Amino acid sequence: MLLDGKVAIVTGGGQGIGKRYCRGLSDEGAQVVVVDIAEEAARQTAAEIGGLAVRADISDEGSVREMVSRAKQAYGKVDILVNNAALFTETLPRRDFDRIPAADWERVLQVNVIGTWLCCSAVAPLFREQRSGVIVNISSNTIYHGSKGFMHYVTSKAAVWGMTHCLANELGDYGVRVNTIAPGLTSSEHVRERYDADYLASRSQARLFKREQLPEDLVGTLVFLCSDRSAFMTGQTISVDGGTILH
Ligand SMILES: NC(=O)c1ccc[n+]([C@@H]2O[C@H](COP(=O)([O-])OP(=O)(O)OC[C@H]3O[C@@H](n4cnc5c(N)ncnc54)[C@H](O)[C@@H]3O)[C@@H](O)[C@H]2O)c1
Repeated sequence: MLLDGKVAIVTGGGQGIGKRYCRGLSDEGAQVVVVDIAEEAARQTAAEIGGLAVRADISDEGSVREMVSRAKQAYGKVDILVNNAALFTETLPRRDFDRIPAADWERVLQVNVIGTWLCCSAVAPLFREQRSGVIVNISSNTIYHGSKGFMHYVTSKAAVWGMTHCLANELGDYGVRVNTIAPGLTSSEHVRERYDADYLASRSQARLFKREQLPEDLVGTLVFLCSDRSAFMTGQTISVDGGTILH
């Protein structure tokens, strides 16, 4: 298996696409630390794959430090960090850009940007010491074409994309690889709840592959980026969107 003996932390692994990532990494032999602010959801995913559940708020430094020390206590090391947790459809109403309250901007940037940075900072000392490690940041293909009413979210995902380049530069000397996945609109549970079927169907027509994008469509790329199959890749972004940005 591609990830035999590896230990992976997946943030936001309690539900949605993150849950599918946890299963995908586990299926390839990784020990998975399922991290989520929603404790019960994290427990459920961990129980299904035989992983470790950790309740953590990625926007809180103490919580993130605890997340890494629990992972290290349980498995002795961390090899992979998947920065998947974010404020997305569940909590973010769409608003015209000039009507987004400053408090919403702050909340989105605190979780999606600063939270991602905190998680990277917390694993960096281990990765430097090991002289190895993999970080995969989850951005969004909205960074290329925008999304009406979602300026704060899109901006936060563009920041994560930029962060990847800086991290790749700063950690390259230690053999640490940092890459980004930019998914297209993906039918996670929350997306199915928030968007009506007609909208999802219209988005399917806006792809070269004219069907709904599902969480499992992202798993192969994640496994590839986490495994030695991509050993000479760093600072890169892979769009997984059925050809949306070419359409
Ligand atoms: N679904 C899509 O269409 C789509 C498209 C592009 C990118 N993405 C990105 O993929 C990722 C997963 O998307 P999803 O659709 O599964 O979203 P989701 O909202 O269903 O899941 C996000 C998960 O993150 C957790 N979370 C939120 N805030 C947290 C915090 N402060 N600390 C720890 N955990 C926290 C939530 O509890 C949830 O389990 C997100 O980064 C999202 O931006 C999604």
